[in-house]
Amino acid sequence: MRYQRLGTRNWTQWREAVLLLEAQIYEPSRQDTPETLERIICDERGISLAAVEGGRLAGFCLGAPLENFADVRGPAEDPVRGSNSALYAADTLVDAHYRGQGIGREFKVRQIEAARSEGFKSVCGRNRVGLAQAMWRLNASLGARAVHIIEKDYQDGIEPDICIYYHIALSAP
Ligand SMILES: CC(C)(COP(=O)(O)OP(=O)(O)OC[C@H]1O[C@@H](n2cnc3c(N)ncnc32)[C@H](O)[C@@H]1OP(=O)(O)O)[C@@H](O)C(=O)NCCC(=O)NCCS
Repeated sequence: MRYQRLGTRNWTQWREAVLLLEAQIYEPSRQDTPETLERIICDERGISLAAVEGGRLAGFCLGAPLENFADVRGPAEDPVRGSNSALYAADTLVDAHYRGQGIGREFKVRQIEAARSEGFKSVCGRNRVGLAQAMWRLNASLGARAVHIIEKDYQDGIEPDICIYYHIALSAP
């Protein structure tokens, strides 16, 4: 498996595969629009990664400064927003065919390490209770602490409709 940064220079190359996986894996209420995905991936302070095997996209892990997510609950109420010191971990997904091989963990370890070395003081994000339970356990094992429990945000009829907003504090590089 090869890991590479996603950004403006390779967005066109991966756009179609990213949009396809986003639509296949997330239920509609957790899907980001193509425009939002492009904004996150092409943010010059963003930290987004792709896992690629034999030319096939096995998964991706996206993040951009918290300031970009003022309209998302969690970031919206976060007093850290505005300090330009937090990376918001937006989407992380692995194609079902490639799960359980450590790719999800590798993504998060690499993203957190890049955030630390690129000057961020924390990584934050949201994990839906139930549907993103594996992700929450993974984040918790890497230092995530719940700071806010958000109820009834997805409103898609799938229970539980609860998500955990978390922070991972980073030590100086
Ligand atoms: C969450 C996700 C990215 C994990 O990817 P992955 O490559 O399978 O993860 P890994 O193989 O690195 O496993 C990570 C840890 O989660 C555990 N895990 C993975 N899938 C699990 C499951 N279904 N149930 C319980 N634990 C699980 C593994 O045991 C592993 O623990 P360890 O590192 O302590 O041994 C993947 O399941 C996914 O794409 N889910 C759908 C999208 C999603 O909900 N993303 C998160 C919200 S943004």
